[in-house]
Amino acid sequence: MRAAQLCLHWWLPPRRNYPLAARPVAVHTNGPTQGSPLSMPGRTTHARLATFIEEMKALCKPDNVHICDGSQAEYDRLCNMMVESGTLIRLNATKRPGSFLARSDVRDVARVEDRTFICSNNKGDAGPTNNWVEPTTMKATLRKLFDGCMRGRTMYVVPFSMGPLGSPIAKLGVQITDSPYAVVNMRIMTRMGQGALDVLGDNGEFVPCVHSVGRPLAPGDQDPRWPCNPDSIHIAHFPETREIWSFGSGYGGNALLGKKCLALRIASVMGRDQGWLAEHMLIVGVENPSGDKAYVAAAFPSACGKTNFAMMVPPPGFEGWKVWTVGDDIAWIKPGTDGKLYAINPEAGFFGVAPGTGAKTNPNAIATLHANCIFTNVALTDDGDVWWEGLTETPPAHLIDWKGEDWTPSKGSPAAHPNARFTAPVSQCPSVDPKWEDPAGVPISAFIFGGRMSKDQPLVYQAFNWSHGVYLAATMGSEATAAAVGQAAMRRDPFAMLPFCGYNMADYFNHWLNVGRKIPNPPRIFRVNWFRKGDDGKFMWPGYGENMRVLAWVIDRVKGRGYAIESPLGWMPRHEDIQWKGLDFDAEKFQELMGVAKESGNTEAHQHEELFDRFFDRLPKEFVYERELLRSRLWRSPDRWDGLPGGL
Ligand code: OXD
Ligand code: MN
Repeated sequence: MRAAQLCLHWWLPPRRNYPLAARPVAVHTNGPTQGSPLSMPGRTTHARLATFIEEMKALCKPDNVHICDGSQAEYDRLCNMMVESGTLIRLNATKRPGSFLARSDVRDVARVEDRTFICSNNKGDAGPTNNWVEPTTMKATLRKLFDGCMRGRTMYVVPFSMGPLGSPIAKLGVQITDSPYAVVNMRIMTRMGQGALDVLGDNGEFVPCVHSVGRPLAPGDQDPRWPCNPDSIHIAHFPETREIWSFGSGYGGNALLGKKCLALRIASVMGRDQGWLAEHMLIVGVENPSGDKAYVAAAFPSACGKTNFAMMVPPPGFEGWKVWTVGDDIAWIKPGTDGKLYAINPEAGFFGVAPGTGAKTNPNAIATLHANCIFTNVALTDDGDVWWEGLTETPPAHLIDWKGEDWTPSKGSPAAHPNARFTAPVSQCPSVDPKWEDPAGVPISAFIFGGRMSKDQPLVYQAFNWSHGVYLAATMGSEATAAAVGQAAMRRDPFAMLPFCGYNMADYFNHWLNVGRKIPNPPRIFRVNWFRKGDDGKFMWPGYGENMRVLAWVIDRVKGRGYAIESPLGWMPRHEDIQWKGLDFDAEKFQELMGVAKESGNTEAHQHEELFDRFFDRLPKEFVYERELLRSRLWRSPDRWDGLPGGL
C-alpha cells in the first residue's frame, strides 16, 4: 500500500493552478484505505490532468483510483466484477456473445431535464430555455455533494476522445466516475483509454467531467445493484470554464458524460466561440445506383426514429441505392477551407432506444446488436437473451421484465422500460459508412429537420434560402400525448436542441445564420414530417424505409436535378417528382399529405411569435421578417393550398 502511494506521489507532478481547485490537497492525504492496490495502467505525463485527479481524489475520498487504459482486458475485468456484484447479467454466450444486461434502479431511468443546469456567469447567456444557477453557488452545492461521495468505492479516471483520435474536429475529455457501468459504456461510446492519453500528451486540452452515483459505502454496507441518489441529482455544465459535474444518476446521458453533456452542451458553446456547429443530428451517406454519393445531416427530436433513419434500408423499387451510416445522434460540423461543411460523428457507439427496434423496422440495428453490447432495462428471456416491445411481433410466453419480475403477456405492463437502451459499437453496423472514422469528416450537402406533427405539417418541403431554413429549424416541434387532458400537446424543440444547447438559443440561431453567411454555397435545408394523420386518425405516410423516397428527392434537389413548385411554406415536390416504384400512393393521397391549410398556417405563425417572444432582443431580426413573409404567402394562398394547377 505504502509503495502504491509513493508511486502515485512520485508520478504526480508539482501542483499547478487548476481552475477547479477550491482546496488543493496532497494526493496521499486520502490514500487507499481498504487494502486494494491503487492501479493506474493508463500512463500520462499531463501535469494538469494529474492535478485534476489529485483534487478529485481529495474531494471524493475513494478507496482506490484506477486510470483506465481502455484495453479489452480491463473491460472484461470490470464486466466480470459487475457480474459478480449483480449489476450485470451475462447473456447467453451463443445467442448474444460478449453481451450483458443491466437493470437500473426504477427511479433512475432517463435523462432528468429539470435537474440539468447551464451555469454560465450571466443568466442571459443560458437563455430562457435552460435552468440556470450562478456558477459559484452551484460549485458550492456540488462540493458539498461530492465531499466523500466515493467512500468505499473506486474512482475511475476515464480519458476519452469525442471524434476519431487526433482528428482536427475531435475534442478530448477526462471523466472521473465511481460507476464501473459508466466506464464500460464509455469504452463503447467513445475512443477511451491510452490512445486518448497519448493524444493529450503533456499539456493538451481536455474537458474535465466529474461524475458520481452519489452513494458512498460505509464499512460493511451492502452495495445496491444500481447505486444512485435520485433525490439529489444535479447535471451541471459550466460553459465558460468548460466543465461538467454530474451527481446522483447512473443512467445514460446523465452518466456517460461524453454524449449529451460534452458533445452537445459544452461543444455547442465551443462551436459558437470557434465558428463550428455541435448538433443533435444523425449523418447518412446516400448513394445512387451509379455510385453518386451525397451526405445529409438530419435532426429529429428524441423518440422520432432517428436511429431507424440513420440505418435506413431502401425499399423495393430502390434497387442499387444504398444508405450509409456515419452517426445516429450527434454531428460536429466545421467549415472546410473549400467552403463546404464537413461533419464527424463524435461518438463510437450507439446508445439507442431498444423498444420499437425490430427486424422489420430496423434490420441494420438488429444485426449491429448481435454481440458485444450492453442492454439496459430490457427484458430477459428464459434462455438468457434479451427482448423488448417491437423486437418480435409476438412476445415470448414468459420473461423477466426490466424490474426483475416475472412477466407474461397478460401482465399489462411493458416488459422493457420505454426508455430501455442498447449500447453497441458503431463498427458492428452493417451499413457503416467507409468514411465514418475519416478524421476530416464527410461533406454535408443537405440538412433535414423533422418534427412529429399529426396535423397540418406536410411530408416535405425545402427552404427558400439559408435564413428561411434556419427559421424552419427553429420552429420545429413535436407532439406528445398529454394523457391528463386527453389531447396532443406540442413542444417546440428548435433544431431538436432544446435540452442540449449549452447557451442562449437566440444566440444559437444567430450563430447558425452566421455560419451560412460565411460560406459560398451552404447546404440546402429541408423540413419533413413522417407523422401526419388523416381524418381517420391513421398515419398518412408509411415511414421507415419508404422515407427513402423523400431522401431521394432531397438528393435530387441538392444535385440540381429535382423539380419543385413554390408553396406558401417552401419548395415542394409534385407527385410526379417523387419516385413511386414499389409503392402504391396516388396523386390524390399525396395532395392530402402535402396540403397547407391557411387557417392552421396562420395559427402556426402566431405560435412562432409566442416562442420567439421569450428571447426578447437577442432574437435574430431575420426571424421577424421570415414570419411576416410566411404570413404574406399564406394570405395570398387559397384556404387550402394543395399544389393543384391554379392553386396559387
Ligand atoms: C437521446 C435523446 O438519448 O435524444 O439520444 O434523448
Ligand atoms: Mn439524442
